[in-house]
Amino acid sequence: MDGFSRKRAYVETYGCQMNISDGELMEGILAADGYEIVDTPEEADVVLVNTCAIRERAEQRVLGRVSQLTGLKRERPDLVIGVTGCMAQRMGKTLLEQAPDVDLVMGPDGYRSLPERLAALEGRRSWTSSAKRRGPQLAVLDLDLGENYEGLEQRRTSDISAWLPIQRGCNHRCTFCIVPYVRGPEKNRDPVVILQEVVDIAASGVTQVTLLGQTVNSYTAGDWDFPRLLRAVARTPGIRRVRFQSPHPNDVTPELVEVMRSEPAVCDHLHLPAQSGNSRVLKRMLRRYTVESYLEKVEMVRAAIPDIAVSTDIIVAFPGETPEEFEDTLDLMRTVRFDDAFTYKYSPREGTPATRMPAEDFIAPDEAQARLERLIEVSREIQAEITASEVGRVVEVLVEKEARTDGQLLGRTEGNKAVAFPADPALIGTYQTVRLVATTSATFVGELVGDGALVESA
Ligand code: SAH
Ligand code: F3S
Repeated sequence: MDGFSRKRAYVETYGCQMNISDGELMEGILAADGYEIVDTPEEADVVLVNTCAIRERAEQRVLGRVSQLTGLKRERPDLVIGVTGCMAQRMGKTLLEQAPDVDLVMGPDGYRSLPERLAALEGRRSWTSSAKRRGPQLAVLDLDLGENYEGLEQRRTSDISAWLPIQRGCNHRCTFCIVPYVRGPEKNRDPVVILQEVVDIAASGVTQVTLLGQTVNSYTAGDWDFPRLLRAVARTPGIRRVRFQSPHPNDVTPELVEVMRSEPAVCDHLHLPAQSGNSRVLKRMLRRYTVESYLEKVEMVRAAIPDIAVSTDIIVAFPGETPEEFEDTLDLMRTVRFDDAFTYKYSPREGTPATRMPAEDFIAPDEAQARLERLIEVSREIQAEITASEVGRVVEVLVEKEARTDGQLLGRTEGNKAVAFPADPALIGTYQTVRLVATTSATFVGELVGDGALVESA
C-alpha cells in the first residue's frame, strides 16, 4: 500500500442484532480513523470477522469462514485479519493458537482501541522479518466496566431502520447462556445521549429505531427506566416506528404495557423469550419466572393491546428435560399461540452452569433433534393458522426493499410480518397501506390500497 491511499477495512458480522450494531460501531470507529469501509474482503487491508458464541454451530461456521479468509493471506501476506465479538472473547488466545494466521482477537469491550491496536500491529510488523510474516498476534480481551461506548459513532448505512444499543452486557445468569461471560455485567447508557442519537437518526431521514439490550426492559439510569425512555424515543419527531429487543418477562410491567398501548409509534409486537413451557426446567435454567407468571405477562399485554403480535425463543432438550416437560413446552405453544418462534436445541457452552449438570441429564442428539422437529412442526402449524386468519386485513407496512421476485417489494407490518406486493421501487423507505390477500410459507402476499396504489399506477 502506498503512503497516499487510504487503508481499507472490511467487517463481516455474524449473530444477533446487537452484533450487527457492533459491526456498524467498528466500521464507524475505523471510518473516523480514516479507513475506507469496503464491501468485500478481497478489497481490504484489514478484515474483521465479528463473531457469535451463542451456540456451538455458530462458532463452527465462523471458524470455517476464518480459515477461508486467512487463505487470502497466501497472496497478500500484509493482510490483517482480526476476529472480534463474543467468540473472540470466549476463546481468546486459544483461537490465536488454533488459527495462527489470525493477527488479532478482540472482545466487545475493546472496540474503542481498534485504530491503535491495528497501528501497533502494523508497527510490530515493520520490524518482523519479511520471511516470518506470521504474527506477532495481539489479544484484547479485558471486560471493562468503565467502557460506556460513549463518543463512538456507529456507521449506519440503512435509510430505513437504525439499531440503537441502550444497554450492554447482562446481569442474569441463565444457566445455558454464555452472554454474561463474554459481554460482562449490565451497563446502561446515558438517556440524554441515547435521545440525542434518536434525534440524529430522525434528522438523517430514518423513521424506524430498534432499541437493543440483552434485557432491554431492565434499563435504568438515574430517574430513567425503560418505559420512560421508550416513551421519549417514541415521541421524537420524525420517528414513526420503535421496536425493542429482547425484553425479559420479569420486567414486563403495567407501566411498560401502558407506554406500548398509548404511544402510536411503539410497534404492536413483543418478542418475549419463554425458553421452556415447564416451571421445573425454567428453574433449572435460572430464568426467574414460572410458566404461570409468564402467561400472566402475556395476558396482561394482550388485554391492553388485543392485536399485538407475540414471538418467542424456545430451547429444547435442556439437560434433564423429560419427555413430559417437553410436552409442556408444546402446550405453552398451543396456549399462547405465538406469531413467531425461534427454536433451538440446547448447546453446551463451556463455563456455563448447565454444563456442570450430571452427565446422565444430557439428552442424546437424536432425541434433541426429534424434539426440535416436533416443536417446529407445532409452531409452524399455529403460525399458519394465525396468518391465514389475517388474510383480508388492511395494514400499514414500512417498505424495506425489493423482493426476490421481479416487480415485488417487501414491507413489514407493525407485528414484524413480511408482506410482498407489486409496486414501484420508488416506494422503498415509505409507509404504505396494503391489503393482505394470501399467504406463502414465510410471507404474506399483499396489494397496495389507497395513495400508494395511485403512485404505482401513475
Ligand atoms: N437476552 C438475549 C438473549 C440472547 S441469546 C437477547 O437479547 O435476545 C438468544 C437466544 O438464544 C436465547 O433467547 C435462547 O433461546 C438461545 N440460546 C442462548 N443460549 C443457548 C444455548 N446454550 N443453547 C441453545 N440456545 C441458546
Ligand atoms: Fe443470556 Fe439470560 Fe442474559 S438468556 S443474555 S443470561 S437474560
